[in-house]
Amino acid sequence: MDGTLRDNDISHVVEADRAHVWHHLTQHKPFETGEPRIIVEGKRMSVWDQNGREFLDAVSGGVWTVNVGYGRESIADAVREQLVKLNYFAGSGGSIPGALFSEKLISKMPGMSRVYFTNSGSEANEKAFKMIRQIAHKKYGGKKTKILYRDRDYHGTTIGALSAGGQDERNAQYGPFAPDFVKVPHCLEYRAFEQEGAPEEGYGVWAAEQIEKVILREGPETVGGLCLEPVTAGGGVITPPEGYWEKVQEICRKYDILLHIDEVVCGLGRTGTWFGYQHYGIEPDFVTMAKGVASGYAAIACCVTTERVFEMFKENASDPLDYFRDISTFGGCTAGPAAALENMRIIEDEGLLENCTKMGEYMLGRLHELAEKHEVIGDVRGKGLFLGAELVEDRETRKPVDEKLAQKVVAECGAQGVIIGVTNRSVPGYNNTLCYSPALIATKADIDRIIEATDEALTRVFG
Ligand SMILES: Cc1ncc(COP(=O)(O)O)c(C=O)c1O
Repeated sequence: MDGTLRDNDISHVVEADRAHVWHHLTQHKPFETGEPRIIVEGKRMSVWDQNGREFLDAVSGGVWTVNVGYGRESIADAVREQLVKLNYFAGSGGSIPGALFSEKLISKMPGMSRVYFTNSGSEANEKAFKMIRQIAHKKYGGKKTKILYRDRDYHGTTIGALSAGGQDERNAQYGPFAPDFVKVPHCLEYRAFEQEGAPEEGYGVWAAEQIEKVILREGPETVGGLCLEPVTAGGGVITPPEGYWEKVQEICRKYDILLHIDEVVCGLGRTGTWFGYQHYGIEPDFVTMAKGVASGYAAIACCVTTERVFEMFKENASDPLDYFRDISTFGGCTAGPAAALENMRIIEDEGLLENCTKMGEYMLGRLHELAEKHEVIGDVRGKGLFLGAELVEDRETRKPVDEKLAQKVVAECGAQGVIIGVTNRSVPGYNNTLCYSPALIATKADIDRIIEATDEALTRVFG
């Protein structure tokens, strides 16, 4: 770490933070006596805190974001160049980086054609919800307004996005929520035994059929959209079971339901393909993305649709209410698409999708080795460099470990200079999955270090 911040009196920064900053997803009582963590600098896969201590970041900025790693001068240069030329104009007009990034993005998304810029994952999802609602009014006499979401999935923090929130601890105390959002069951095969009627064989198709059951119960003529994560992130790193997506797609087509894939976490390479849904041959109507779009170098999120969806919003140009009457002020910032273009160039030129697949397989193998050594690991799952290890008290009953113990494992990794994650205030009783999402530049040596820290932490906590 360079000396700049030290010279600026870091203890003053800590005091200013303690006095005035409200940290995200954090109980602040402990800061009355202890210090908040302040991250001062980042390079490649490492970050440094206020005490100059280095950590290997196995969670890409805490929340699956910094896909190309820290300290990318070429992104900073691209953003600077754009900002001095033009920093902003409302999104009712176009911009050079907006047009060029859209073209590049769409070239990686066969079947999709239009990019709507926003500034957060929650907001991108809200756009898709609004489009589905408007289509219901324009085409179906205001009937097909219901939007289905899945147990354990998360789509954001605004009241609209929380209305589609399948993680009860995120939602608790923030209701009442928006009407016409309806929950469908999760598809976590490891916990299929807790779902009534789940078969031992063919679970994926059965899990998709549970969605159909909900559609039939609600009335297909009332259901306009289905919103799903391709691989569920904060709900426990849930990879879809075999046969699931084919059946989901079939059900959506059968009942004329628009399929919205939330790629806020999986998008831009996290699972080894540009988008998570591309592993499963899905043809979505909406794809939303945020975190990895510019790897956190600028705030940018997108709601991408097909030309078929887009066409519905210009059918009757003489009707003043016919088009999508929505704006996002900061969706017009040019730093986002400028950073995103350079982010994609890096992913391509450095072969980061290939590295993600290769290192993801290596890491999955190493997590399985850990599971052989530590009884407490009940299940290992994930895709690419998006992996999880579920901790259980007993492999037979699969009873989750107390979340405090899972958090202790994270703390013990931190004590060894490695930042890993754990499902946090998510599904009641199931905040027990360790989460890993190193940057797509991770090497074998980085992964070995993450695994060794976890190994030692598990030994310290569980013996
Ligand atoms: C799958 C998913 N969708 C949406 C969001 C919300 O994104 P944001 O925090 O940018 O609003 C998140 C955030 O963690 C997420 O994991």
